[in-house]
Amino acid sequence: MRGFPSLLAIVSLHGALLTTASAYQWPNPRYEALERFLFEGTDINDKALTAITNSCAKRAGSGSPVAAEWLRIAYHDSATYNITDGTGGLDASVYYELTRTENIGGGMATSTADFQASSNKYVSRSDLIALGTVWGVVSCGGPLIPFRPGRIDATAAGRYGVPQPQEVLSLATERFRLQGFNQSEMISLVACGHTLGGVRNTDFPSIVQIPGPTVVLKEFDGTDAFDSAGVAQYLNWTTQNPLITIRNTLYQNDLRIFQSDGNATMKSMNSDTAFNAVCAGLLERMINLVPNGVQLSDEIALIPFKVTQAQFNVQNGQLVFDVLIRAAVTAADQTSNQAVKSITMFWCDARGANAGCPGNTALSSSISHPTQFNDVLVSPVSKSLQTSFVEFELTVPIDATRGVGRFWFNSFSSPAARVIQDNGGAGYSLDDAVIFLPNLGAARGSGSVVFDVVVGVRYVFLFKYIHANLMDARS
Ligand code: HEM
Ligand SMILES: *[C@@H]1O[C@H](CO)[C@@H](O)[C@H](O)[C@H]1NC(C)=O
Ligand SMILES: *[C@@H]1O[C@H](CO)[C@@H](O)[C@H](O)[C@H]1NC(C)=O
Ligand SMILES: *[C@@H]1O[C@H](CO)[C@@H](O)[C@H](O)[C@H]1NC(C)=O
Ligand SMILES: *[C@@H]1O[C@H](CO)[C@@H](O)[C@H](O)[C@H]1NC(C)=O
Repeated sequence: MRGFPSLLAIVSLHGALLTTASAYQWPNPRYEALERFLFEGTDINDKALTAITNSCAKRAGSGSPVAAEWLRIAYHDSATYNITDGTGGLDASVYYELTRTENIGGGMATSTADFQASSNKYVSRSDLIALGTVWGVVSCGGPLIPFRPGRIDATAAGRYGVPQPQEVLSLATERFRLQGFNQSEMISLVACGHTLGGVRNTDFPSIVQIPGPTVVLKEFDGTDAFDSAGVAQYLNWTTQNPLITIRNTLYQNDLRIFQSDGNATMKSMNSDTAFNAVCAGLLERMINLVPNGVQLSDEIALIPFKVTQAQFNVQNGQLVFDVLIRAAVTAADQTSNQAVKSITMFWCDARGANAGCPGNTALSSSISHPTQFNDVLVSPVSKSLQTSFVEFELTVPIDATRGVGRFWFNSFSSPAARVIQDNGGAGYSLDDAVIFLPNLGAARGSGSVVFDVVVGVRYVFLFKYIHANLMDARS
């Protein structure tokens, strides 16, 4: 928290506030937490989960991008969807199925360990598995897959039926059909998956015949990137994909699948543009396969101007209103110098004669430069959107008897470019979220009087109580 902003003044309100149509309105703790996770990669415990997949980083000791492991576990969870009765799909049942032969893989335990502490009341384990695919794919230069939350976790194992590399084509085709994918979609989906990572000797010793215990990963396409290299290498027969090149035809899973339609589908995916377009659609469908009755919410979208915190605090014996704003800076903002550079906050009193600004006058306070914090990260999703963030903190002294009612902002990218930020027309309102509780406090002592102040505070999305001793400066 910084010192008080310079300006504290009474200003005049000009006319009605603009209203803008927007689905999101503050406060919406669940949406705000999901949005932060998706775009900052940070969960509600401040764990920066996506730091380990940034720039398609490899897992130490495994040779595989973290993204590959996250994508594979999502596929394995989703693969046992049954389109006939709408059971299975992305429901985190894979957590109960990890000892099955069909789920062998060094990436499974590492992925579940990554996700371990990040599921909570806002993010189910299955939403987290879906997020892993969204972050992972885009972190390796692949398409940005829209993320819709709302998956519900299974409480027990589901059916068997994840495809295995020794299975005949007709069985693989039937397994994909049950998952809801036809033959050409099966071919594409395998190509989309097998652009990341590879096969480990320790997981499939009959396919990668290098003795352990040292883990050796044979990459599918020799690139870490999510790209069409594997398709091109297949078509011009330079591929190193062990599920194609293995001599034992039993394990030539990808060869069987890729050539099952005379190479028509593979030929149609032989450019990064075509590949990304096809994979974006299929992977989105894959992560959105959920059991009947589970209703996914709308896509989580970036909140360009976000009130990340609004709370009362006590600073140097003074009750203050402490507000933290996160403003997105897009690539276009950067090139046109349109990033938010200053913010003015306005508010009406909650109580007393100026409650609700009856005379059209509001209090205001301005900050003319972003506050230097290091707590807003950029997830692979924001990175791919070339979007970063700036933060502003406003800390203003508040007369406790008047409190803070509705508040709103002007943001400026230049002194002449004012944007009214009023929560989609509603204004921001603390209502019952911030409550001054004078009757719970007490005044004690003589000479210097100590006030015991109790304030109910909305802090991000929790209710906390601040219990503070205030020295009355007048005595
Ligand atoms: C017939 C279907 C498939 C078979 C038989 C199959 C088989 C395999 C095998 C044997 C591995 C090696 C795993 C390890 O050594 O840990 C592997 C890795 C992988 N598979 Fe598949 N797969 C299939 C379809 C898919 C699909 C549809 C996707 C995703 C859309 C996918 C994504 C991956 C990824 C990303 C890896 C690399 C994992 C890593 O490097 O840790 N696979 N697959
Ligand atoms: C898929 O669901 C149908 C309908 O409930 C059922 O008859 C069939 O056996 C299921 N398939 C598998 C592989 O479980
Ligand atoms: C499979 O579905 C796609 C749409 O994703 C469609 O274009 C294609 O014709 C279908 N292929 C087969 C073999 O049914
Ligand atoms: C095969 O395709 C790959 C990927 O595009 C390319 O790098 C390689 O030069 C091609 N090789 C031949 C022999 O055409
Ligand atoms: C499909 O492509 C593979 C690999 O390039 C090749 O070996 C095979 O002959 C092709 N099959 C057809 C029917 O074109």
